[in-house]
Amino acid sequence: MLTDEFGREVTGVRISLTDRCNFDCIYCHNEGLGDTRGPMDPQDAEMSTDDVVRFLEVVTEFDVDAVKFTGGEPMLRQDLAEIIARTPDELEVSLTTNGTFLPGRAEDLVDAGLERVNVSQDALDAEDFAAVTQSGAYERVLEGVDAALDAGLDPIKLNMVVFEHTAGYIPEMVDHVAENDGLQLQLIEYMPELTGRPEWNIDIERVHDWLAEQADEIEHREMHNRRRYWIGESDSSDDPNAGRGMVEIVDPVENATFCQNCHRVRVTHEGYLKGCLNRNDDLRTMGEMTKPEIRETFRETVENRVPYYGEYMIENGDGEWEIDEKYIEKSVQV
Ligand code: 5AD
Ligand code: SF4
Repeated sequence: MLTDEFGREVTGVRISLTDRCNFDCIYCHNEGLGDTRGPMDPQDAEMSTDDVVRFLEVVTEFDVDAVKFTGGEPMLRQDLAEIIARTPDELEVSLTTNGTFLPGRAEDLVDAGLERVNVSQDALDAEDFAAVTQSGAYERVLEGVDAALDAGLDPIKLNMVVFEHTAGYIPEMVDHVAENDGLQLQLIEYMPELTGRPEWNIDIERVHDWLAEQADEIEHREMHNRRRYWIGESDSSDDPNAGRGMVEIVDPVENATFCQNCHRVRVTHEGYLKGCLNRNDDLRTMGEMTKPEIRETFRETVENRVPYYGEYMIENGDGEWEIDEKYIEKSVQV
């Protein structure tokens, strides 16, 4: 296991398989490149199937146990099932997708070894959905969610970015996941720095407060220091989660302990290793490299990993890093 200078063990990797996307979400941070990205990169800029697999084989040597494939839209890669099938068995495989290509393909991905999926869904109405994603694929996404459930991917997390356009939708989305077995909701704090539209920001604390009022149970999860809000009561004596909904908030901006609990290294579609979503100042390429070279590059990336909200961190004198007390005050207290 590799651990960075801030005591953070790296247990997962998140690989952007492509920069291409069939949506154009108005909030999209383009995997940390923001609105400075310019046009989408063409397919030939992407890592090859072999590059991805070689990298995954190397990270398992360091006890990494999970990989998440993202994009752009990762299902635009025709070799996705092959990549998943060739992913070492030690790794739990998950996918973040906009859902449009799940109909007809979800089963193949599950057969190849896909275990979990997050589907972006920001509204429950075609018109509102189109306003956010700039796409007319609403029905198709619903079909995609069903296809994934049918293929055995249960529970499915619906990702919803909380910003001015969607905040009013939260109660409806919460009801939606509470009423539909197999669905969970992941509310994601909008990252305004990356989109050039800071005025769309919403205070995520208000959402925490509102959910705390709605919830029948609040569960604290150590690993990522996150809270899970359970809505409703179980309707089965065998399964405590049957018939109730789960809502989780991912709040990298407001929660000062978020970066401290980040255990993931990222890889861009071009094969650059990235210690943090929000930092592009220490990129190392690992495309077309030999395994020893990848090993070294991965090690260096972890060694140089600095939390984005690094100004919150102070050394406690024993060579360990802690969050500055004054920021803990403003972080989410559980
Ligand atoms: N802020 C927060 N989350 C974002 N995502 C994309 N852009 C942003 C942003 N500006 C998230 C969406 C999508 C996932 C791939 O990244 O939730 O589901
Ligand atoms: Fe960006 Fe994802 Fe929306 Fe595509 S679906 S535009 S990658 S947020």
